[in-house]
Amino acid sequence: MKTINVGLIGCGFMGRTHSNAHRRLGNFFKLEHQTVLKAICDFNEEKAKAFALTWGFESVETDWRKLIAREDIDLIEIAAPNNLHAEIAVAAAKAGKMIICEKPLAMDGKQGLAMVKAVEKAGVPNLVSYNYRRIPAVTLAKNLIDEGRLGRIFHYRAKFLQDWTISKDLPQGGDALWRLDAKVAGSGVTGDLLAHCIDTALWLNGDMDRVNAMTETFIKERKHNLTGKIEKVGIDDACAFLARFANGSLATFESTRYARGHKALYTFEINGEHASIAWDLHDLHRLQYFDHRDPGILRGWRSIHVTDGDHPYMGKWWVPGLQVGYEHSFVHQLADFLEGLANNKTTGPTFRDALATQYVCDAVLKSARTGRWEKVSKIRQSS
Ligand SMILES: NC(=O)c1ccc[n+]([C@@H]2O[C@H](COP(=O)([O-])OP(=O)(O)OC[C@H]3O[C@@H](n4cnc5c(N)ncnc54)[C@H](O)[C@@H]3O)[C@@H](O)[C@H]2O)c1
Repeated sequence: MKTINVGLIGCGFMGRTHSNAHRRLGNFFKLEHQTVLKAICDFNEEKAKAFALTWGFESVETDWRKLIAREDIDLIEIAAPNNLHAEIAVAAAKAGKMIICEKPLAMDGKQGLAMVKAVEKAGVPNLVSYNYRRIPAVTLAKNLIDEGRLGRIFHYRAKFLQDWTISKDLPQGGDALWRLDAKVAGSGVTGDLLAHCIDTALWLNGDMDRVNAMTETFIKERKHNLTGKIEKVGIDDACAFLARFANGSLATFESTRYARGHKALYTFEINGEHASIAWDLHDLHRLQYFDHRDPGILRGWRSIHVTDGDHPYMGKWWVPGLQVGYEHSFVHQLADFLEGLANNKTTGPTFRDALATQYVCDAVLKSARTGRWEKVSKIRQSS
């Protein structure tokens, strides 16, 4: 068995999901590679030391540059805030490390393109953690669409709703709240939440051509945790946009952190010529499916409990009828990445795939500023 030594940067929310994936992987997936939690890196040393103990990392670093310079590290995982992704990824690629980077790829498309160039020039395997692709019901949706069961696609509808930033007293900046600070996050719900919806949509329904968006910042000023001052809020609190896909289908996307009662309501529905599918993160192990070709007396929405051994990934887990959850999407992502390494196959979403999502986000934010339809930049093959 080949060993891959992991250096993980960031021990917050995503640091935990990535560490948990490494811990569970070998017990459920029989792979040619095994990963070793070699080093955890966080600029908060106390937090990093406690994290190393909890998850079993062999060593602690506080400077990601030192981590990247270490010869005993093969794979760098970036689970730090968005403004750090580009600098870390470009340095890791130059050092010849494999990279798994959290989403969104970058602060904007320009930065994202530099990252794509860096990993492709270095020839290092790379993956961006758009983990919702690897929820078995979502992968099943992909398989059904690729088999042509829906026929021509007419509509794509997605939303991602939360309600945790409604209080005007919530500060911006620092752990988790960096999401409200545009200098660190790049954007608000567009890069944080809609990026997930966009990645899934591009994967399921192909390229997006143009978008027309509106955004709003409901709370204009918030105290900054790091400066202690009241500062302007630069992120979009809410975003809704229309889109046209290259396959001729029409789409609507909506995201907000001001939808009282919703914590993480990611849903999508796709309507095709023969069939429709719908999925809801709050019920993530189910896929709703309607097929017009069913005999009339039986026609109706089916709620598929995605737990059978022949459903994506499910043969690796328990027995039919017993479901898996959110954290398993990170295990699946890692398993696919390692399987790709073993078979010399590229596993998506690569940095290049994630750049396409970044370009949609850029076009959405541009359209919200101009009030016009905006074209989505195309990725050149040689970029
Ligand atoms: N795939 C998903 O569904 C998903 C979900 C949440 C977050 N994310 C992404 O993951 C990344 C991290 O988000 P999070 O929720 O884990 O944030 P978090 O605030 O919980 O954790 C970030 C960690 O990074 C550390 N950090 C900050 N600056 C650092 C530096 N210079 N060097 C080393 N460590 C540093 C912080 O101390 C903190 O421990 C973001 O890019 C975010 O968009 C993805």
